[in-house]
Amino acid sequence: MSNPDKLYIFDTTLRDGEQSPGASMTKEEKLRIAKALEKMRVDVIEAGFPIASSGDFDAVQTIARTIKDSTVCGLARALEGDIDRAGEALRDANSGRIHTFIATSPIHMEKKLNMTPDQVVEQAVWAVKRARKYTDNVEFSPEDAGRSDLDFLCRVIEQAIAAGATTINVPDTVGYNLPEQFANTIGTLMERIPNSDKAVFSVHCHNDLGLAVANSLAAVSRGARQVECTINGLGERAGNASLEEVVMAVRTRQDHFTCDTDLDTTQIVTCSRLVSGITGFPVQPNKAIVGANAFAHESGIHQDGVLKNRETYEIMRAEDVGWTENRMVMGKHSGRNAFRTRLEELGITFESEEEINDAFRRFKDLADKKHEIFDEDLQALVSDAGFRAENERVKLVSLRVCSETGEVPNAHVVLSVDDREVSGDSSGSGPVDAAFKAIESMIQSGAELQLYSVNAITSGTDAQGEVTVRLRKSGSIVNGQGADTDIVIASAKAYVNAVNKLNQGQRAHPQGVQV
Ligand code: KIV
Ligand code: ZN
Repeated sequence: MSNPDKLYIFDTTLRDGEQSPGASMTKEEKLRIAKALEKMRVDVIEAGFPIASSGDFDAVQTIARTIKDSTVCGLARALEGDIDRAGEALRDANSGRIHTFIATSPIHMEKKLNMTPDQVVEQAVWAVKRARKYTDNVEFSPEDAGRSDLDFLCRVIEQAIAAGATTINVPDTVGYNLPEQFANTIGTLMERIPNSDKAVFSVHCHNDLGLAVANSLAAVSRGARQVECTINGLGERAGNASLEEVVMAVRTRQDHFTCDTDLDTTQIVTCSRLVSGITGFPVQPNKAIVGANAFAHESGIHQDGVLKNRETYEIMRAEDVGWTENRMVMGKHSGRNAFRTRLEELGITFESEEEINDAFRRFKDLADKKHEIFDEDLQALVSDAGFRAENERVKLVSLRVCSETGEVPNAHVVLSVDDREVSGDSSGSGPVDAAFKAIESMIQSGAELQLYSVNAITSGTDAQGEVTVRLRKSGSIVNGQGADTDIVIASAKAYVNAVNKLNQGQRAHPQGVQV
């Protein structure tokens, strides 16, 4: 077993995070997040569930071929097809891991799998051995461990380790556990399983009772040395343990913990913004570590105290998690090199000169409309470029809206659909409503609008508005994003982006299909 004082961080934003309704991401978006995670020095990136769809396979394969410093992991049920597909997707990885799982709680075994406990043990052992044919880095999870019988868990885990699993992940799949109870489960498993020293023990906690981080930390105190978590706590239902909270709790409370992560925590805010921008899931202002108010002091007494001595009211330094001053970085006279350098400082890199040229052209357009350009503007500008994937069938060409007191607003929209220009007009209860109706009159997606939100990226009336549009059609939920200083244009871009995502294929859910 490797360094016992190191706490491994396994990020599952691209897999469990993507299981949040509406959080599906394109291959390009996943790759950008994977690169940001690698830069933050995350140990393991769970890149997806390769059997789910050809898109998922492709994304895992591309990430495995690109990422060099983090281990890239693919999820597989304890099934031949899943494991072989994961093995294939990870073939070219510098360091690859297969994560295979099967449910062990009485309710899952009986109602979902229709298998006896003996069959589950046999299948688990078989799956680990099969995965070992592809890599010696195999993780095994007894799904719903949080509601499984402890004796049975000991049995299945011991056999999984004997079969070659090098990481044992204990998931609280439904977020049912309490910290002391979960810590005891981890402690007991590690003490009672005779070969437990041959594997790293990991935890994977869901946040249904708001306890995912507390449960993970309690388990670390009892010996777990890998935590599975996601940026901003994204994930199935109420989400997973939030990476930034776990990492900063351990780093800040070194008086309590006997381990620490290798993470470069100054990358946390950049990663948080990137994930929020791509998925369209905003971060609440009072969210620990990454919320806009996390380091803001409103009360006079607190402000006075912090000015006299920062530690009166702050237990962490804002700059240690990547908060920078909201400073004016550039304007319309800034050159291409300064633009590129600042983006690199923000952790944003480009694949090709063509991409830089495109982003720089967009920056100049923005600088014509907006006097001061802040870091947040640059991040939105690059994300906005990322939203418009090259293979989008529908593109916004132009938009004209008319809004006047006492008159019904109307919109004229020109789209390019499969490289052919079409235009449409509509009235609506407001300019955004009119623009969406005009777009629908041309593309007739028939999708239901589930959410529309606008967020000002910086302060000031010339701020860019970042819009999220959530559409639902035939069971598929997608989020589209758009940013612009004109919020009607940002809204139209977001709507078109969502429509393009709806056109991309459906995926299977890892826990929704029976073994
Ligand atoms: O929550 C869960 O049990 C999972 C497993 C696949 C590890 O996500
Ligand atoms: Zn999960």
